[in-house]
Amino acid sequence: MLDSGCQLQPDDITITLGCQNALMLSLQAVAKSGDTIAIESPAYHGVLQILEVLNLKAIEIPCSAQHGIDLHLLEEAAKEWQIKACVVTPNNQNPIGATLNTQARKRLIQQSIQYGFTLIEDDVYGELSYKDKRERSLKADDTHNTVIYCSSFSKSIAPGFRIGWVVGGQFQAQIEHYAYVQSLAVPTLTQIAIANFLENGAYDRHLRKTRQSYQDNLARCQALIQEYFPIGTQTSTPNGGFLLWITLPDTVDAMALHAQALANGIGLLPGLAFGLTAQFRHHFRLNYALSWDNQTDAALKKLGQLCHQQLDSYP
Ligand SMILES: Cc1ncc(COP(=O)(O)O)c(C=O)c1O
Repeated sequence: MLDSGCQLQPDDITITLGCQNALMLSLQAVAKSGDTIAIESPAYHGVLQILEVLNLKAIEIPCSAQHGIDLHLLEEAAKEWQIKACVVTPNNQNPIGATLNTQARKRLIQQSIQYGFTLIEDDVYGELSYKDKRERSLKADDTHNTVIYCSSFSKSIAPGFRIGWVVGGQFQAQIEHYAYVQSLAVPTLTQIAIANFLENGAYDRHLRKTRQSYQDNLARCQALIQEYFPIGTQTSTPNGGFLLWITLPDTVDAMALHAQALANGIGLLPGLAFGLTAQFRHHFRLNYALSWDNQTDAALKKLGQLCHQQLDSYP
């Protein structure tokens, strides 16, 4: 948290069962059934699922790979509807990899103050920036206590640990109570293991190595997509993380591609998972976190061939 620019006391933080749990607790504390929540579009599908379970209404605010969430449209939405909270990923957004610039961060916080909504900051990819130094968190510039910060070690170490945290600000007591009611506690042994990993410097070394390997994998992915995919295919340009958003020509259906890829042992997430409507049917998300080998090259080549097959069979 210090690296992200925050000055906190231990009691400001609640340890959670991953970031998903942190987001769930935050939304439970901030909103009640029927309230309206602004989300990015495309959105991390886990947020869509939480909104559904909590019976919250979603307003999708378009998000571009270059600029992140469209703040003009967020403001228009805030003028028109009573938005209770906005869930936003300022660093290396899932799925499009966008990172907000300094000006956008200021404007976002300003909007939350002006229109009275809470910002739920999902920073789960924040430590995976390819730059030498990670970006500041929104929480670091939270002058009016409108930001709740959520993160975890799932992306930076491993999802199986299920260790995350939330800085709840004005909702901290409520969040802590809900966390207690839902799970009583978070496993202590894994917390101690991670604490040791952080303390002895191994985490920083691990992050340096991991970021470099993700950056190398990204370059390989982009080169192979350029070589094997149909003309007109576009990819996002992430500055961190391990997710690539691919926009296919209009005649290629990502759901069909998903089924064909799976039959060939290749996993991808079709765009439909990231929105409430069918707007992302020609998109899909690739995960390039795994270590690279010949099979990865072959898989990307195969995906390109499957796209070409769809194009060729289009009437
Ligand atoms: C943007 C985002 N937030 C939260 C999560 C959930 O993280 P965790 O595994 O720590 O619950 C994910 C996992 O994919 C994610 O991509």
